[in-house]
Amino acid sequence: MSAYVLNLWYMAAWTQEVPEGGFLVRRLLDRQWLLWREESGDWAMIEDRCPHRFVPLSRGKFADGRIACGYHGLTFDGTGSCVHNPFGGDLPPSARVASLPVVEAHGGLWFWPGEADKANPALIPDFSFIDAGAPIERAAYVMGVNYELIADNLLDLSHAEFLHVESFGTNGSLFSHGAQTVEQDASGAVWNKWDMTGAPPPGWAEAMVGPGGTVDQQLHIRWHAPASLALFIAMRRSGEAAPMVPPMANPHILTPETQRSTHYFFTHAPGAEEAAQARRVFLEEDEPMLAAQAEAMGGADFWDCKPLILASDKAAVLARRKLMQLRKAEVE
Ligand code: FES
Ligand SMILES: [Fe+2]
Repeated sequence: MSAYVLNLWYMAAWTQEVPEGGFLVRRLLDRQWLLWREESGDWAMIEDRCPHRFVPLSRGKFADGRIACGYHGLTFDGTGSCVHNPFGGDLPPSARVASLPVVEAHGGLWFWPGEADKANPALIPDFSFIDAGAPIERAAYVMGVNYELIADNLLDLSHAEFLHVESFGTNGSLFSHGAQTVEQDASGAVWNKWDMTGAPPPGWAEAMVGPGGTVDQQLHIRWHAPASLALFIAMRRSGEAAPMVPPMANPHILTPETQRSTHYFFTHAPGAEEAAQARRVFLEEDEPMLAAQAEAMGGADFWDCKPLILASDKAAVLARRKLMQLRKAEVE
């Protein structure tokens, strides 16, 4: 059984990460890949490994949508076909590298590592809010943790009350005034919705609400397999219909680099301070805790560790089950 579910869309990169006229090298699902934009505007994704002596093709020369291996010159195009053999003569059908369907959506490049004829772009989760709202910056970094542990973290936002007290904790109101709803929708998504009603405002909003004022706050998170999440935050003064601050919608799109590391694609408001704030939450709050969790688990399977399950874990457990069902369905 593959360690990963293959018949799904995964995000490989933001389009802006691919150098103009060049290619991006990225390890995804334990294999290294090259991505570039063809002259036609379509995208190409081929494995970064020559079928001759297995050297990375990224060490070769790239021009006009073709990459020439830096070792003996076999040249491959964006479909993975060998288009030039400096030695002449016929080559066997194995003279090609793996290529994957890849499409652009919402500023990201999405690839399908499974059966190519099942790669329907309509199955890419809807992240259209990325383009629709206020200006944002797209960002990415690698977190040294398994992607399912990060998805667990995002699907249980109660941890904000402890781990993100300074950044987006809710002053304890999640427990005193919160109601949790877990649901699935027609797109296959799992939702975990926390709604705090008539709650004291978080610290950063106290001045806006005034003495004794309360707020209704939403912390909603959506998960699509394998681990493409979206966070929706809204707040209004209790009894008012209009939002108090512009509602926020943020992608948290996770793609395994390996079993122990994950590409984390996110957005933040433009500016150096906003970038630093986003990174502080990930790098100084979530990642050290998740890395310590992984170490404490010592490489054992999550369920083999017999976790204590709380009511707040319902969405994370549901997502893990759905992913496991998809994984099992691929081997049947
Ligand atoms: S290793 Fe690539 S052509 Fe020989
Ligand atoms: Fe977190």
